[in-house]
Amino acid sequence: CGIVGITGVPDAVSVLVSGLERLEYRGYDSAGIYVNDQSGQDYLVRRVGRIANLKSALTPAIKGITGIGHTRWATHGVPSETNAHPQYSADERFYLVHNGVIDNFEQLKSEYLADVKFQSQTDTEVIVQLVDRFVVDYEMDTRAAFLKVLHLISDDSSYAFVLMDRQTPDTLYVAKNKSPLLIGIGEDFNMVGSDAVAMLKETHTFMEIQDREVVTVQPEGVVIRDFDGNEMKRDTFRVDMDASAADKGTYPFYMLKEVDEQPVVMRKLVQEYLDDEGIPKIDPKLLAQMKAADRLYIVGAGTSYHAGLIGARLFERLTGISTQVFISSEFAYEQPIMAAKPFFIFLTQSGETADSREVLVNVKKQGWPSLTITNVPKSTLSREASFTLLLHAGPEISVASTKAYTAQVAFQAILAKALGMAMNKENAANFDIKQQLGLVAIGMQAIVDSKDELESIASRYLSQPRNAFYIGRGIDWSVALESALKLKEISYVQAEGFASGELKHGTIALIEDKTPVIGIITQDRTANLTRSNLQEVVSRGASVLTIASKHLSQPDDTIVLPDVDPLLSPLLSVVPAQLLAYYTSLGKGLDVDKPRNLAKSVTVQ
Ligand code: G6P
Repeated sequence: CGIVGITGVPDAVSVLVSGLERLEYRGYDSAGIYVNDQSGQDYLVRRVGRIANLKSALTPAIKGITGIGHTRWATHGVPSETNAHPQYSADERFYLVHNGVIDNFEQLKSEYLADVKFQSQTDTEVIVQLVDRFVVDYEMDTRAAFLKVLHLISDDSSYAFVLMDRQTPDTLYVAKNKSPLLIGIGEDFNMVGSDAVAMLKETHTFMEIQDREVVTVQPEGVVIRDFDGNEMKRDTFRVDMDASAADKGTYPFYMLKEVDEQPVVMRKLVQEYLDDEGIPKIDPKLLAQMKAADRLYIVGAGTSYHAGLIGARLFERLTGISTQVFISSEFAYEQPIMAAKPFFIFLTQSGETADSREVLVNVKKQGWPSLTITNVPKSTLSREASFTLLLHAGPEISVASTKAYTAQVAFQAILAKALGMAMNKENAANFDIKQQLGLVAIGMQAIVDSKDELESIASRYLSQPRNAFYIGRGIDWSVALESALKLKEISYVQAEGFASGELKHGTIALIEDKTPVIGIITQDRTANLTRSNLQEVVSRGASVLTIASKHLSQPDDTIVLPDVDPLLSPLLSVVPAQLLAYYTSLGKGLDVDKPRNLAKSVTVQ
């Protein structure tokens, strides 16, 4: 979910709406705002569906100086107007937006609010009713009541809260635990939001809030206290990103813009992390800690996990350090027997994924060193790891991740080279990453320039079938997993990425007449094997397509990729798969950037 709040501006409604539009990637089941004009009038508007629905319900009469807004990704309760946020107390005095999950809400409800009739199925309503109970029945002031409620919430719960009270209409009461929330500092106004991008139109100056702090935000100032009431000092920081970097310009969808930006992202990484001789510029303190490790653990979710699968190969090949990759929501609850000196690498585009953060919290508890590789400066995981390095890919808005994936893969190659060189490994010294990333950028450009061809392949092969397969071996299998994920998340074709040799051990039963099977062929050692696996499915009626590197290509290959170092082939082989998914989704008339049921950044476990 996404949250934004502001106090001290003449037109809070438009600030909230534009903030929510920028946060829509966090969920889009329903949205709502509450505004107060500080002279006795207030308004609550909530709508199911996209921010556009909310926007069209707003009339000029709806105005305010202070307000809160929310875009929802449903956890407790179906997407409906009554379950949308802000949630409010029965006496309509308190209004609350929330991102997270309150684990003990049922218990709080039965203990304190057994007599209250609830309108929604949300855990959030319990919290706002409870604040009201302590203020009205126990005569506490709002800040004290809010703090009391925070103390009653179980430690495992996650929340970012912004609360308003009709009786102190210029004040936002704010707190967080696990879920992201930042303060934005203005002149004569202040604000709060789930990320900096949501506030960039208004301010470039921000302040962090830590877990288990309570903050009061008023136009003239921000006061941060810990749970014991001690006032905390906090420095501000600047984010110099241009708000328009998050606009889609003339592109019909962000995804296409982001796919097209990939060659630029490769060059940006070269610029940021390599010197003129192509030697990586990486903090020697980080390399020293990584070098001391006897095993690297890469942790991520979704597309970032898939990028980690490639990273593990790069680290092992260039440094000789054994490397394992884990899905964060699995590692958090099923920790394997650990090496003596582990080093953790967190891959996360957003830096906010709750599953990954859960692992990091535990890693810190154990005193193990960690690095977060993220696209979002000052994000939660970037702040909490021992080291952070940025992907410099620019804002990624489309829910389906593209340029962040290729940036993660390319950056891991740079880091693996740096580490390998620090360990005097010949493989690393010989790996000409600068030249290779240059070739990758040129190759990516050639692929994105062949959009028409990919569009026609998508409409010929992928628009009709119920299911499809990407297959490959080794590194090509890892790309097959990511390629299949792209297709299923935006086109709703049931797609699987499969190890090509494994297909015949069961899954081949799913191959029917015209089932599309796309083979990825970029590795010398396995090319022929994958080609014979493709023959096996051809004999069973499949429509076979191939994505093959030039030096391994055959005349009837569907898509031929320029040659690059085989370790970096994923940077090219994934691009046609991204575009095939894009055009399949487009052809079906779907909302490419905002597929059903998904959110870009999942801040609940
Ligand atoms: C969500 C998104 C995925 C993304 C995953 C991990 O599920 O829909 O596209 O890969 O989260 O996100 P992260 O920001 O941690 O890379």
